[in-house]
Amino acid sequence: MPLTIKETTCEYKRSPLGIDTPHPRLSWKLESEKRGEVQTGYRIQVSAGAEKFDEPLWDSGRVESEASVLVPYAGPELRSRTRYYYRVKAWGRDGTESAWSETAWWEAALLSADEWQANWIGADPAVLDPDDEASPLLRKTFELDGEIASARIYATAAGLYELYLNGERVGEDLMAPGWTSYAKRLQYQTYDVTHSLSQGINALGIALGNGWYKSELAKKNNRYGNRRAALLQLHVLFADGSEQVVVTDPSWKASTGGIRFSEIYHGETFDARLEPAEWRTAEFDDSTWRAATAAEPGTGRLVAQENWPVRVTERLLPVALLRTPAGDTVLDYGQNLVGRVRLRPNVPAGTTIRLRHAEILDRDGNVYYGNLRGARQELVYTASGEAGETYAAAFTFFGFRYVQVEGYPGQDEAGLPFEAFEADVVHSDMPETGRFECSNELINRLNLNIRWGQRGNFLDVPTDCPQRDERLGWTGDAQVFVRTAAFLYQVGPFFAKWLHDLAADQHPDGGVPFVVPNVLQGHSSAAWGDAAVICPWTIYQCYGDKRLLEEQFDSMKAWVEYMRAQGEDEYLWNTGFHFGDWLGLDAKENSYIGATPKDFIATAYYAYSARLVRDAAVALGKAADVRYFGDLYHRVSDAFRREFVTPGGRLAAPTQTAHALALVFGLVEGEVKTRVARELNELVVKNDHHLTTGFVGTPYLCFALSDNGYHDTALKLLMQESYPSWLYPVKQGATTIWEHWDGVKPDGTFWSEHMNSYNHYAYGAIGDWLYRRVVGLDAGDGGTAYRDIRIAPLFGGSDLSFAAATLESPYGTIHSGWRRADDEIALDVALPAGTSATVRLPAADVARILIDGKPADASEDAAVLHAGEGFVELRIGSGRYVLTCPA
Ligand code: BGC
Repeated sequence: MPLTIKETTCEYKRSPLGIDTPHPRLSWKLESEKRGEVQTGYRIQVSAGAEKFDEPLWDSGRVESEASVLVPYAGPELRSRTRYYYRVKAWGRDGTESAWSETAWWEAALLSADEWQANWIGADPAVLDPDDEASPLLRKTFELDGEIASARIYATAAGLYELYLNGERVGEDLMAPGWTSYAKRLQYQTYDVTHSLSQGINALGIALGNGWYKSELAKKNNRYGNRRAALLQLHVLFADGSEQVVVTDPSWKASTGGIRFSEIYHGETFDARLEPAEWRTAEFDDSTWRAATAAEPGTGRLVAQENWPVRVTERLLPVALLRTPAGDTVLDYGQNLVGRVRLRPNVPAGTTIRLRHAEILDRDGNVYYGNLRGARQELVYTASGEAGETYAAAFTFFGFRYVQVEGYPGQDEAGLPFEAFEADVVHSDMPETGRFECSNELINRLNLNIRWGQRGNFLDVPTDCPQRDERLGWTGDAQVFVRTAAFLYQVGPFFAKWLHDLAADQHPDGGVPFVVPNVLQGHSSAAWGDAAVICPWTIYQCYGDKRLLEEQFDSMKAWVEYMRAQGEDEYLWNTGFHFGDWLGLDAKENSYIGATPKDFIATAYYAYSARLVRDAAVALGKAADVRYFGDLYHRVSDAFRREFVTPGGRLAAPTQTAHALALVFGLVEGEVKTRVARELNELVVKNDHHLTTGFVGTPYLCFALSDNGYHDTALKLLMQESYPSWLYPVKQGATTIWEHWDGVKPDGTFWSEHMNSYNHYAYGAIGDWLYRRVVGLDAGDGGTAYRDIRIAPLFGGSDLSFAAATLESPYGTIHSGWRRADDEIALDVALPAGTSATVRLPAADVARILIDGKPADASEDAAVLHAGEGFVELRIGSGRYVLTCPA
């Protein structure tokens, strides 16, 4: 097979409709059967039509470059509402030329604010008192005369919206326009409606929900405003070149319909009898509807959809019907998930069905609602009795495995028809990128739980949990999980959007809110605020997103400067409020905060973030910042050692978390490092191979052990089945990651009513270590986006007989998997074209390593970088290799 271009994307997406960046970035993946293939040159063409490449708008010409990830468009200035077609070709190592890629496109949305002709409208107060809980409906009919060539809608809302055209739902997005820092940034969506319009009278309809804008959030209603509103602009282009624009304005009509109540935490109440039949169609008589009113929702700059849209990604039927000891009828979906039930009731008109959503059953087998705290999570549905009626909550989501059903006719005698209660799994529709598998089924289930944790909590913003009256963008949680997240799914646009909100909500002194978008008072706890630095740096490393790093750089610096300004010692952070090692098991009785001193954690993160900002400055070529933050990093690390390392060379804080941070953040060196590692190992061994770490220490604990000679201890922690451990919840039947190591105690009782989520991804951060150490699939230091790969599996004792992972990286599919057989371990590695890897294997001498059955030092496709001290390092280019080494 010759060199081919297998996939092109623009701004991470395949043919994105409606982006507003002036220089969209293009990426492509190369495919070649040849080993060691690299790109030596590329050529990009951009044209105004799929057939117009003979007169391109921009032709990069042949560029001698290896770049194939996020290469910016550098042609003439883009025009709004215009589709640009592009194709790419590449040259390989020995000059082979690929064919042109398939043609793909992107479409520019509204590139400047003055292109918005639409006016905000709502239904208040003529139709609805602002406190009326019913959802406003808005509609407008308009006439089109002429052959329609193309049509686009640009739309957004204060609150959430669903859009209809001539009776049909427009697009499949849910929870649009998503959650941003509304007062500063509001996303709008673009829809291609060319084929939904017709000559003559057409009808647009919008349903509005409270959403994050107006729902109760963290105990307060109307965080962003109290009046739901919509903004929409439809551009219709006719075949003769003329254009008609339809916008929201007070000529629209307003009323209310079936949604009587809709809240993020509490759920939805829908009375199908009150939904005006056909209100979305042109034929509907809206003479009794009132005029819509002008609205001023107080939202900020309009930005085109940046994140992956929220969609239904899977459907699940219940797996069992339970009759609980308390006498309740409960559906079990077999999986703790986030989404909604798609009700298909076949019941008489006026029947009210109530669904109450819960994550868990208590010790007696009854549904447990205690951990939801103030969140009601219920759907109350009153049927119209019409044939085929279907309803799925429009403007909310539920975290649940169990649904208690009330009011379904005959449920006590006949049970429930499962197909009437199918569940929609709902989250940001990120492409799946990572797969992990090993010989231990409990660990495989753990890995699945991590994945479900991400699905449940990546619903437009990275949340702590999706069920109780919180569901907020907790910065600390996002920071500890970001690297794992970037293995499992493509999270580039997801974090880009969220980080833009983080910067928007950052305090003038650089302080970082506890949650983003910010709906709380508090800000700037160590390890939480560091999300401002760790997340953009991680996205840059995993995807090569330099523009995001550049955009966030001021925010990153500001956070480090904030830390520097705290307290009286510039290089220690020993003041202020901190969450500490949140939920660490070495906490005092009745405290959530682990034993590691807060100033230890704060100063360690201060040093770490200063170092990452220095590294970012290096990447961005900012020499003065390299010096400044490099120097700051050294001073803070020195201060850390003065304060927290005893003259004898031990850590002043005898906790697992303290030791893990000092090691992983590189704060101890030489003999002190050796001693700290030994003592960490002892702390774990003495605790009978159980961890005590909370949010801060957990992501680093196994790395600290594995990277300092104690991988077997790390593996024992992983394989530990008794409490506290990662596998303890798995043994208890968990299908997601729990907030607490003992969310359910061995005797079946619960941790607490107040803080007991069963879908909290933070401890799922172990996924990162499973990929990077157990499988050993890691990025090298010689580039970003896994252009330089490091394959360094740690086999450990004989606990695992195989482990394998696949990562769909920006350059293509990387695979690494090892399998133990008798006295040999076989390692199967595949690298995409354009990448290369250093493979590190344990072996006394290089002759013991075979590549495709031949001694490594005799292989033409591998260079020996190192042999000795018990390990061998080889350098290989793209392609597939089977290596063997002694077990
Ligand atoms: C959240 C956490 C969060 C924490 C702050 C909790 O209520 O659920 O995950 O990071 O508060 O300590």
